[in-house]
Amino acid sequence: LADDGSRLWLKYDLIQDEAYRKSVQKAFRQIIVLDQTETTQVAADELQKALSGFTGKTISINNSPANKSIVLKLGSDPRIQKNEGFTISSTSKGAEIISPSDEGLLYGAFALIRRIQTGQSLDFELAESPKVQVRMLNHWDNANGTVERGYAGSSIWKWFELPYRIDPRYIEYARANASIGINAASINNVNASSRFLTAEYLEKIKAVADVLRPYGIKVFISVNFRSPRTLGGLETSDPLDPGVRQWWKYKTEEIHRYIPDFGGYLVKANSEGEPGPQDYGRTHADGANMLADAMKGHEGVVIWRAFVYEADPNGDRFKEAFNQFKPLDGTFHPKVIVQVKNGPIDFMPREPFHPMFGVFPKTPLAMEFQITQEYLGHSTHLTYLAPMFEEVLDSDTYAKGEGSTVGKVIDGSLNNYQVTVMAGVANTGSDANWTGHPFGQSNWYAFGRLAWDHTLSSEQIAEEWTKMTLTKKPKAVKEVVDLMMKSHPTYVKYTYPLGLAHMMGEGHHYGPQPWLEKSGRPDWTSVYYHRTAKDGIGFDRTGGMSDALSLYSPDVQKAWGDPQTMDLNYLLWFHHLDWDYELPTGKTVWNELMTRYYQGVDEVEELQKQWNSLKPYIDQEIFENVKGRLAIQHKEALWWRDSCYLYFKQFSEKPLPVGLEEPK
Ligand code: GCU
Repeated sequence: LADDGSRLWLKYDLIQDEAYRKSVQKAFRQIIVLDQTETTQVAADELQKALSGFTGKTISINNSPANKSIVLKLGSDPRIQKNEGFTISSTSKGAEIISPSDEGLLYGAFALIRRIQTGQSLDFELAESPKVQVRMLNHWDNANGTVERGYAGSSIWKWFELPYRIDPRYIEYARANASIGINAASINNVNASSRFLTAEYLEKIKAVADVLRPYGIKVFISVNFRSPRTLGGLETSDPLDPGVRQWWKYKTEEIHRYIPDFGGYLVKANSEGEPGPQDYGRTHADGANMLADAMKGHEGVVIWRAFVYEADPNGDRFKEAFNQFKPLDGTFHPKVIVQVKNGPIDFMPREPFHPMFGVFPKTPLAMEFQITQEYLGHSTHLTYLAPMFEEVLDSDTYAKGEGSTVGKVIDGSLNNYQVTVMAGVANTGSDANWTGHPFGQSNWYAFGRLAWDHTLSSEQIAEEWTKMTLTKKPKAVKEVVDLMMKSHPTYVKYTYPLGLAHMMGEGHHYGPQPWLEKSGRPDWTSVYYHRTAKDGIGFDRTGGMSDALSLYSPDVQKAWGDPQTMDLNYLLWFHHLDWDYELPTGKTVWNELMTRYYQGVDEVEELQKQWNSLKPYIDQEIFENVKGRLAIQHKEALWWRDSCYLYFKQFSEKPLPVGLEEPK
């Protein structure tokens, strides 16, 4: 049967390995739920569905203890560190899942399913607790059904049908998220319409929240800071104005009447034209703290984004968020979390970690990753993002000495944060397979797994996902994982090698446009970022064009300060180098740059070959889908390579290194 990808990784097909199937069948004959709640019911239903599918036998759900069953039990265990954690004790004669919360039981159920689905031994002990509390998708979905930077059709939320019709996909969405531990979703675009705060929309959002609740998922709303004016008819939205404060208080109370366990607000303020407290001469803290005050008496939090910058042609956007927020550390309400993008610019294919990480001891910082591939080939290019997420999370800030990784900042262990958040900008849409590119699913999956445990390796995550989604044949799994692991470095090579950034097509952010000199704002051009001239290429942030490197701790400055010893993947983020400057690779900057562009294209050809060799193991529809997209990717890798070569050559006035052919 052709596979349209709509089941994501939750494929509960009959286990082909007969011996293994029989052992699963023998060990787990029924499911026992000792504590009945909506969520334990969901867990039991999921186990039933999975095991019935795996074994071909109908498995029943009961509530009194019995042998050879899977028991779901509320309880404690010293190995469980957090409320949502769980333990599983499994043998060939049954399994017991224990958690202090019913959400934990749900996560335990999915962990057991994953074990079976990936063909592992049934004899195991497992104890897991999430490292981060709020594991969240940020939807950039609009009320009119479009998705900002969404490449998989239109929004999954059918606002025009809600609250009357519940699309069954909301439940599929909830299952998929719960299966990887995602427990929060902000349902609308950060460029927020005030409409989402009207009674009409709150009723719709309530309907969504009601569907997601049993799956342990809380709903957040992105708010427009000007709402007191646009909706409330007030003359100002000044966060220190008593009327404005009261408006938010009432609005927050109203939201809680619809959604008692409301997650909270997500706010983009004074960024890219969005309104904010600075419009009234106030600070980000004034704005965030007002919303946090309005949340008093409720569990919800306020997530305030740090994605801010100024249109200063002589400034450095790299430093802007740091400069605006650093003086505010210690002034935020305890309910406020500041959400920082992984890098200082904007989800570029590879960015140094954001300099804010590590140096905000008094303000919980959240990580914002982008799952949707805005700058990474939309839904056409095969780019597995986990290695990039991992690279950021494993980066050492040295804020409190060696080992002060970004991961430890985010999970709160470095600075003892009371609330911890990891967010990913969703890549979901109305396409049958949810993400457009079949491999886009792996990025959603990987984000959830890393939000749960940022110490998991991207390779392990790729292997799990592949076995659950594409094939279980060991040889094929190995090839697919290999291909996934190579995909991000390859993408970077043919687009932004050596630490180049922000040279994409204006507005749509697709394809190359390194020549962009004029735009609506000086910091939206390409030349602002690559600083190409006759004398060389790159943005000197060591003190020449900007002193941004000095925002990092001395050890990081040392690591990135010297082109002879640094990781060349970050080179042009920090250095402006002569075209003839000799790198430790033995090549000049020009030759290294061109070599990488050419390698990138060659590597796409390798990916194509590798994918073609997998044909016997992959569902035909998925195979052809990926094959077609890879063909486009190849064409576009050439487009990137050749455009960048021809553009940069005007400045370097150098030929291609020996052995590389001129573009056709
Ligand atoms: C990028 C993106 C915008 C988005 C913004 C944000 O700039 O292109 O569409 O609104 O990020 O994160 O707020």
